[in-house]
Amino acid sequence: MARAKIAVLISGRGSNLQSLIDAAADDNYPAEIALVISNRPKVKGLERATKAGIHQLVIDHKDFQTREDFDAAINEALRVTKIDYVCLAGFMRMLTPQFVNDWRGRLINIHPSLLPAFKGLHVHERMIDAGVKIAGCSVHFVSAEVDAGPIIGQAAVPVLPGDDADTLAARILEQEHKLYPACVKLITENKARLSGAVVPFDSSVIASGALSNPPSV
Ligand code: GRF
Repeated sequence: MARAKIAVLISGRGSNLQSLIDAAADDNYPAEIALVISNRPKVKGLERATKAGIHQLVIDHKDFQTREDFDAAINEALRVTKIDYVCLAGFMRMLTPQFVNDWRGRLINIHPSLLPAFKGLHVHERMIDAGVKIAGCSVHFVSAEVDAGPIIGQAAVPVLPGDDADTLAARILEQEHKLYPACVKLITENKARLSGAVVPFDSSVIASGALSNPPSV
């Protein structure tokens, strides 16, 4: 069966992009990374795409007068490449409601918290400050409100004594790199699908790695 065509939108480091590239290197993985778009030139994520031989574009938001024009340029690139699903991976631009609506159920994001807690920026620092004991990450469909869309999968990690934002971010990132490919697999295999405001899947899916639990501490 033909593999689903994924575009990954990035703004920087691209370690989650790398996890998707690595997963898709297996011919049995149900998706291929067909396009990488960065809104910033010369970022590490673009080097990763080059190394993997993936078609890449820089669509710099600074070259556009409005968000609508910027999003239209992205949309055109996605259309030309016949993209099925769009994965945001550290993409630091707000997308317009029109774009989000056009890609409803096919636009996915990863966020380093157990949503709906700790939406937005400076998440690790805010979790440390709040004294949470369990942190984690979420992969979700994108909706118009930032970090608020239907959750596809989550992984939990413990916050350990002495953690700062950096050590916690590193521990969460390790799980992000497993969770994102697992969720993209579920979606592209049609084992999880947007249904209203939620993404139901059956218990057999848990074994696929979409859900991790923290080790006992
Ligand atoms: C990740 O922590 C992701 O959850 C958040 O931005 C970060 C991107 O990291 N949305 P990378 O560019 O994938 O390394």
